[in-house]
Amino acid sequence: IKRIGILTGGGDCPGLNPVIRAVTRTAILEYGWEVVGIRNGYKGMYNGDFVELTLDSISGILHEGGTILYSSNKDNLFDYQVEEDGKLVNKDVSDVGVENIRKMGIDVMFIVGGDGTLTSARDFARKGVKVVAIPKTIDNDLASTDTTFGFSTAVDVATEALDRLHTTASSHHRIMVLEVMGRYAGWIALHSGIAGGADVILLPEIPYDIRNVARTIEERKARGKNFSIVVVGEGAKEIGGDITVREIIKDSPDPIRLGGIGIKVASQLEKLCGNETRATILGHLQRGGSPSSSDRILSTRYGVEAVKLAASGKFGNMVTLKGDHMSYDSLENVIGRKSKLVNPNGELVEAAKSMGIGFGDE
Ligand code: F6P
Repeated sequence: IKRIGILTGGGDCPGLNPVIRAVTRTAILEYGWEVVGIRNGYKGMYNGDFVELTLDSISGILHEGGTILYSSNKDNLFDYQVEEDGKLVNKDVSDVGVENIRKMGIDVMFIVGGDGTLTSARDFARKGVKVVAIPKTIDNDLASTDTTFGFSTAVDVATEALDRLHTTASSHHRIMVLEVMGRYAGWIALHSGIAGGADVILLPEIPYDIRNVARTIEERKARGKNFSIVVVGEGAKEIGGDITVREIIKDSPDPIRLGGIGIKVASQLEKLCGNETRATILGHLQRGGSPSSSDRILSTRYGVEAVKLAASGKFGNMVTLKGDHMSYDSLENVIGRKSKLVNPNGELVEAAKSMGIGFGDE
């Protein structure tokens, strides 16, 4: 290996810059390779938007949020929108990407991303490109790895928000509802809810009945606590219901992305419990800004391990964290597996229930 390329795809996530830094430093200092950054994810691979990465160019980025290489969401070169004869058509343009990295003399591609980005990484590996993948998502729902970087920062931000919401909740005897991210998985809701002292946590994995939520709040009142904190994962579902927020934002093709289930839960609880209620949608605040110290360490470990994997010739794999050990799994396995969801009967949910935290299911 003489020269490697790295790209970041999908939504931004705290820890991307530390990964770029770790890959670049290890490649240059440990192996003497050259490093090329591909800007704007797969879009840059298609357009030939490349930049040399040096020790100087990656200096000072460890604590920075976002990605110095920029990112693009949902750009899939195997089904890419291009203009032909004045019309927009979808085509497989992956060969253009492969040819561009060949022209740049790139021997191995390091691809950092979540589900969508890594599905394309697998498809490039199937085409013979030497790929090493690095998992990224604040949602922590990627199969094969215990924890993804970005998750700890998101949980910290949500926990701090809950600490702040507690003040208004207790001063005004209010119900404060916080909607957090996690499109299909409730990891951020569960962890921040426990860390932030929530009274109710609603997750996509445990369908809820709003009357059960109201009962938990009434039971608190009977114990003399006339305020409550409710954490709602954005993908939470009502028992027997569809994605409930559709009723509020009927015109949106993708209501989860707009946010809003927290508003629905808040308005229902205000009616059922009689307390003044407010909803806060935390949104992209959870993804922005500086990575937590543990995310900086985790993303550094992923970056270093990815370079070592390439050096030992193990391509077509994603680096993983298993317990406290760095390991790897094939992209075929990772992409073939279901997302890693919260276990409704798992130890953490059971512990929360033992503490009197409601999940709206009973
Ligand atoms: O997957 C990460 C995530 O932040 C989800 O939690 C959220 O549903 C989604 O991305 C939001 O995506 P976008 O930034 O495209 O609105």
